[in-house]
Amino acid sequence: MFENDIEKIIVTKEQLEKRVQELGREISNDYHGEELVMIGLLTGAAPFMADLARAVDLPVYYEFMSVSSYGQSSTSSGNIRILKDIQNDIAGRHVLVVEDIVDTGLTLSKILDKLARHNPASLKVCALLDKAPCRKQEIKIDYCGFTVPDEFIVGYGLDYAQKYRNLPFIGVLKKAVYAP
Ligand code: IMP
Ligand code: MG
Repeated sequence: MFENDIEKIIVTKEQLEKRVQELGREISNDYHGEELVMIGLLTGAAPFMADLARAVDLPVYYEFMSVSSYGQSSTSSGNIRILKDIQNDIAGRHVLVVEDIVDTGLTLSKILDKLARHNPASLKVCALLDKAPCRKQEIKIDYCGFTVPDEFIVGYGLDYAQKYRNLPFIGVLKKAVYAP
């Protein structure tokens, strides 16, 4: 399908499946006997959350949020605009924010500040990918799938201009695609 646009595959379909099952077991053990609210950050985290929730052996409640950055200054200010908020009260509940990739960390830190004000019983983060060298804001990732290098990657939810989200693996996008 998009084979000609991908430089190299960095996480295969099999590696994704295996790691998601491992994360699911770890989360199931840590929250044993509890119920969990997963808040997926749209759009990128959708396939990851769908697979992760089914790998978790607990009652899981689904919520989704969609945010966008404010104007041009977004990367420096980290201001976010909520396009879609959660639908139910999370006070006193165990909340796990599910994200595709943490890059600068600015978006996630704002979301966590906002969610903390609703007084959840606990608030943790599960990110499929950690692009650690790019962090501008310290973030504790409680559950991390894979650490990835500072390259532009796509697939399994991650896009470039809304494309490539349905690739079943994670790959580095050829520079010629976005910087012709
Ligand atoms: P940040 O941590 O606030 O910089 O924002 C992280 C968001 O940027 C992620 O949720 C992705 O939507 C997007 N992002 C960061 N790096 C990549 C990448 O390599 N490919 C695709 N999207 C990315
Ligand atoms: Mg995202």
